[in-house]
Amino acid sequence: MKLTDEPVKEIDRLIMEQIKSPVELLNQACFHLITAGGKRIRPRLMALITGLISPDAVRNMDILSMGAAVEILHTATLMHDDVIDEGLMRRGIPSVNSAYGNKVAVLGGDYLFTKAYNATIKATDARISRVFSDALTTLVQGELTQMTNTANLEITEESYFRTIYSKTAVLFEITTKIPGLILNRTDAEIEALAKYGRNIGYAFQIADDILDYTSDSEVLGKVVGKDMDEKKITLPLIYALNNDRGISRETIYEAINGGCVERILQIISDTDAIASCDKVAERLISEAIDAIAVFSESDYMQALRELAYASYRRKY
Ligand code: IPE
Ligand code: IPE
Ligand code: MG
Ligand code: MG
Repeated sequence: MKLTDEPVKEIDRLIMEQIKSPVELLNQACFHLITAGGKRIRPRLMALITGLISPDAVRNMDILSMGAAVEILHTATLMHDDVIDEGLMRRGIPSVNSAYGNKVAVLGGDYLFTKAYNATIKATDARISRVFSDALTTLVQGELTQMTNTANLEITEESYFRTIYSKTAVLFEITTKIPGLILNRTDAEIEALAKYGRNIGYAFQIADDILDYTSDSEVLGKVVGKDMDEKKITLPLIYALNNDRGISRETIYEAINGGCVERILQIISDTDAIASCDKVAERLISEAIDAIAVFSESDYMQALRELAYASYRRKY
């Protein structure tokens, strides 16, 4: 049995318990998304980090309940993200907005935000709810910054990284930081955990942005080519736009406007943009692994090394 099977099962149980509502439509919308699957990478990550710090703590109820809070928060962002991005498919089935409409998806997401936050109020350590609400602020700012950067071909790599920190990496960062806070580790250890999470979050989003071009909808469980449709300029395109192979920005701009994924894919391949993404991701991953070397070697450490690579080299 995998190290994380039991805690993730318990976190799932807590999620189901916490999101029950007397309003049937809210139940339906939330269960629709939560029971549709999802990788549960954040709960798994929290369980492994907990084991890394102290194997005895993997059943710590405060941590498990924060695992549920983080996954509920993630689910809320997905529900709203699909309204914003007009995403029709999620986890291989129709998205909440597509099955129940935008209004239900907005309210369903709001409902889940409150449920996630509620779990943090019960946490004994006051820092937890602060870290959680700051992350929520950052997430909202990230989604909005991304919107304002739509079709901006001048977007820099730095600006891309700022955006993906806000919309994705911050949640990974608090996922790995929270067990450290609950288990009263030193500031230096907490920063090491935060760095691991943050870097994995960056790599995870870069992979998502690549898969949006290279995967297929069946495998990915969501519609591919969406970023191009919405003129979201993600890392593969940023590298393609700054190529030294003589492919002009106008050519790329026309390809984006033309809406042909094959054409963009050809440009991405001609400019070696994926190889450039790989290089950055590899650096992020190795820095993440180095950061947690302050903890003792264990099965958890090994699993965290594997998860670091898997967060990038994944198919969906
Ligand atoms: C999707 O997250 C949104 C991103 C941050 C890229 P996941 O890829 O973790 O989604 P699920 O939970 O597995 O469906
Ligand atoms: C993830 O970005 C944003 C969230 C924090 C939900 P995307 O918009 O690329 O995520 P997907 O591709 O729809 O899952
Ligand atoms: Mg989206
Ligand atoms: Mg995406």
